[in-house]
Amino acid sequence: MLGLKLLTDPRWADIAERNLEEILTDHAWCEQKAATNAITMIAYNSEHDEFIQEMSDIAIEEMQHFKMVVEIIERRGYKLGRERKDDYVGQLMKFCKKDGSRNMAFVDRLLFAAMIEARSCERFRTLSQNIKDEELAKFYYDLMVSEANHYTTFLNFARKLSTDVDVDKRWKEWLDFEGKLIQSYGNKEAIHG
Ligand SMILES: [Fe+2]
Ligand SMILES: [Fe+2]
Repeated sequence: MLGLKLLTDPRWADIAERNLEEILTDHAWCEQKAATNAITMIAYNSEHDEFIQEMSDIAIEEMQHFKMVVEIIERRGYKLGRERKDDYVGQLMKFCKKDGSRNMAFVDRLLFAAMIEARSCERFRTLSQNIKDEELAKFYYDLMVSEANHYTTFLNFARKLSTDVDVDKRWKEWLDFEGKLIQSYGNKEAIHG
């Protein structure tokens, strides 16, 4: 799926469903961070007109996702907890190239974002196919489609705006890295846990 090397064990969805308040809190913050990431990318790459438009759309959409998750939390009588640390994303961030050209750093940041969208999409699919809660199963199916579109947008921009990076080669490196990284996750009630 989306080139991912390892699919999530469906038992992770059981762990998530046993603590919905926690998974929803973690999820809400994932959406907020995705919006923040899009806004930050606008600030650093303002010379690309079409990119600015698309990132604005993504930032808005991610905040809509945030709001939808918070509404579910409130309706169910849960509380949105404090922001959760995302160790998986922290590890991916370390894999980003920061010492090359400006274009290389930009392309890698796009691939970093595409990678998170791909895994989030896969985790949403795992939830939608395995949890018994019908409202959430439908909700996660809809979000899976949305994050798949974001994945495509980031990957397409990497290909389009690269001037000195072999994007297909670098994307394979990302998929290999992530395939090994994700092996140590899948046991916590967190979207990337
Ligand atoms: Fe989202
Ligand atoms: Fe997204």
